[in-house]
Amino acid sequence: MTGAAVPGAAPGASASSDAASKALRFLAKPLQLFIDGEWVAAASGETFDFEDPSTGRVIGSAAAGGAPDIDRAVRAARKAFEEGPWPALPAAERARLMMRLADAIDANGEELAYLESLNGGNPLRSTRSVDVGGAAERLRYNAGWVNKIFGDTLLSSARGSTLSCSIREPIGVVGAITPWNAPLFMATGKIALAVAAGCTVVVKPAELTPATAVRLGELIAQAGFPAGVINIVTGFGAVAGAALAEHPGVDKIAFTGSTAVGRAIMTQAAQSMKRVTLELGGKSPVIIFPDGDVETAARTAAMGVIFKSGQFCAAGTRIFAHRKIFDQVLQLIERLFTAVKVGPALRAETEMGPIISRKQLERVMSYIEAGRADGAQVICGGQRLPGEGHFAQPTVLAHARPEWSVMREEIFGPVVCVTPFDDAAGLDEIIALANDSDYGLVARVWTRDLGVAHRLIRRIKAGSVNINGAGGPGAGEGLPFGGFKLSGIGREGGHEGVESYTEIKTVAIGY
Ligand code: NAI
Ligand code: MG
Repeated sequence: MTGAAVPGAAPGASASSDAASKALRFLAKPLQLFIDGEWVAAASGETFDFEDPSTGRVIGSAAAGGAPDIDRAVRAARKAFEEGPWPALPAAERARLMMRLADAIDANGEELAYLESLNGGNPLRSTRSVDVGGAAERLRYNAGWVNKIFGDTLLSSARGSTLSCSIREPIGVVGAITPWNAPLFMATGKIALAVAAGCTVVVKPAELTPATAVRLGELIAQAGFPAGVINIVTGFGAVAGAALAEHPGVDKIAFTGSTAVGRAIMTQAAQSMKRVTLELGGKSPVIIFPDGDVETAARTAAMGVIFKSGQFCAAGTRIFAHRKIFDQVLQLIERLFTAVKVGPALRAETEMGPIISRKQLERVMSYIEAGRADGAQVICGGQRLPGEGHFAQPTVLAHARPEWSVMREEIFGPVVCVTPFDDAAGLDEIIALANDSDYGLVARVWTRDLGVAHRLIRRIKAGSVNINGAGGPGAGEGLPFGGFKLSGIGREGGHEGVESYTEIKTVAIGY
């Protein structure tokens, strides 16, 4: 239905009416802060509104946490870490609580998916499985690490050396600052890593999408986590987020969001030498060779940009198709993009929802305009859709050049550049194109030639290289995820994920 007006959301269209009424009841009261096991208003008494991006209408309000609220939450987390029951709790008991929270997420999965789709604009069909299912899975997977966080047995180079070892200890109090594109998954994911490592945590959800993180707070209380172990403080980035990043009582910041804010956080963190993990998005290449499964490659690449309306850090937004199959790939993507059902997130048939906000939609449109002005061919899309919600058409820009902004900057919308490559210079040309980016999050390669795959795996600068469609959302837990270059620092997932919430302590034992 691209090109046509998008009618308003029809709440309950495909969610069970029970889930919908629970979600709407939850939103009927202003959302509060979850600090030290209690639900409280912001110290200032202030609140802010948030909306449904499918309609642009306000759907609720939340406490506007400020520096005093962050300070209270950090103190509660510190107390739970130093003196509370948390450090003394056997690892297995931490795992049991994590499993109970995962079960509670599943038990309330319909309601959570409804809330997530309503507030975040992603279609129900993906929020239920990817966001809600993924959140529960991240808890269960990391619960398996709690008693498998090992150090090493060490031998010093000195003669007659003593027995030495390293042990890993929880870093302490973690500040988690999360984005709006996967609110529940990001909040739960960072909580899972922190508590698995034995840390306590203060979560600051994105101001555009506080709903599911606050609902998660209720489930955390219900699961039986001791007070202060997990605290949730809603509020604005420049106020509550900055207060958390600056707070001297915080030992680590785990952040997902823009590179600009990632830099600001690193600067703030430097004062008290906080540890940081930063997941900052990308401009990920998809490389399609003629010997690969071209149809599946094109379909997977297209759906990868439709997923979350392209508001996804790992979106493959630079597609490089070998010149022999370039026209074929372009046509396949165009056909898919023009058939995508764009609409309100809660409607059952919707395949792609809105952009998160008016501001973000304008940002996306300004990139499309810049691409047009630079000389890109707009193969399909290129327009916003009329109506109250923030809808954009899936857009293909062909023949974009590596120096144009549409090829360099993260657009965070349903916009993909498709560019041909040759193999006149062997693989050097395509490797140079793939690496011609300030980002380095994911690279995807489609080829049946093992030799080509091996060479690209080694030479592409990216945190993940996915061959023939493996990896990506829905691939489950266990694969470390994070970026090279401006895509960030550190990894979530695998043993690296949980270990990044620990410090190494070296122990040397004499006679
Ligand atoms: P953002 O980076 O401003 O927001 C992410 C989180 O950071 C939110 O919780 C926000 O409240 C917080 N924040 C903002 N300013 C802060 C500060 N000074 N100190 C501490 N925390 C702060 O993202 P924004 O502005 O909403 O989106 C802009 C662009 O960022 C997008 O177009 C996209 O390119 C990128 N982005 C990348 C994401 C990813 O998954 N890697 C997620 C969201 C945005
Ligand atoms: Mg921002």
